[in-house]
Amino acid sequence: MIVLGIESSCDETGVALVDSAGAGVPRLLSHALHSQIAMHQAYGGVVPELASRDHIRRVLPLTEQVLADAGQTLKDIDVVAFTRGPGLAGALLVGAGVACSLAAALGKPVLGVHHLEGHLLSPFLSADPPEFAFVALLVSGGHTQLMRVDRVGSYELLGETIDDAAGEAFDKSAKLLGLPYPGGPHLARLALGGDAQAFKLPRPLLHSGDLDFSFSGLKTAVLTQAKKLGPVISEKDQADLAASTQAAIVEVLVKKSLKALAQTGLKRLVVAGGVGANTLLREQLNAACGQRGIRVHYPELNLCTDNGAMIALAAGMRLQAGMAQANTAYSFDVKPRWPLGLLPA
Ligand code: KG4
Ligand code: ZN
Repeated sequence: MIVLGIESSCDETGVALVDSAGAGVPRLLSHALHSQIAMHQAYGGVVPELASRDHIRRVLPLTEQVLADAGQTLKDIDVVAFTRGPGLAGALLVGAGVACSLAAALGKPVLGVHHLEGHLLSPFLSADPPEFAFVALLVSGGHTQLMRVDRVGSYELLGETIDDAAGEAFDKSAKLLGLPYPGGPHLARLALGGDAQAFKLPRPLLHSGDLDFSFSGLKTAVLTQAKKLGPVISEKDQADLAASTQAAIVEVLVKKSLKALAQTGLKRLVVAGGVGANTLLREQLNAACGQRGIRVHYPELNLCTDNGAMIALAAGMRLQAGMAQANTAYSFDVKPRWPLGLLPA
């Protein structure tokens, strides 16, 4: 069964084809991505209207590209999957509209997919796929959550951020340091030459006893520190502040993940979402989990941030597990806010 997946929830248009024949993990046939980062950079963040318009421009050429790359034609598609939420309403509507029109024209069924389910299942496309059950640390620009995942469709929220997401903490701190959007990878690069001990920054909710996160106080602390150092911050101070900020975010993510693993008794951790590409986070999780006999699984680096492959994969895995039915009603809606726990199990 060939599934076409379309992702358009934010600032990347992603399209992919997976083959979910048989009982094994769906196989990725091809995927293509257009990132809008360069377009939004001038504004210091995503401009929703521009994002929607660009998705419209990109989605069909990318669809043609993935079909050609996989040696398939439109007629070979069995199901069209799209990101139904959460995300920017206008951007989601582009993917949903294109998916439903394409499916209607082909006489094939459609399936709306939860963006975060795509992220947390994305390591199944890696060379070292996980086995159920596992703890998932979802760390993206919009979400920071710890989930218990027993099987496809069974997602129990263990803890989440009460304010900013981890990616937002990276991005907002990076902006204060004058780095371009999205700041996460830029801050991580700058931190390489810095001293993580140079500035004492808070580790919010580290000892709260629960599995929730809070990152907005950290951003304020970075702002206060930057103001003290300013108006012109030396290169050394900039690198030190970047390293100290990254260390604070990573320490909280690592400690809370270990707590979730201890609490659930599970021996596998899956890390997904854009911040999962962070090298320090990977190093520290690998070291801490290695000492405790815990396996850590990541998506391939190019599938950490938003992409169509994870949407096609999640649709394929849901259909295989009998957790969803693709439909031919073609009357779509989108869910800009959509808690993962509300998915039908
Ligand atoms: O999952 P994603 O592509 O989009 C959302 O669904 O939000 O995540 C994007 C986030 C951004 O905040 C970006 O700065 C962050 O992931 N990010 C990183 C790194 N690469 C991407 N943060 C820290 N270090 C990185 N290497
Ligand atoms: Zn995402």
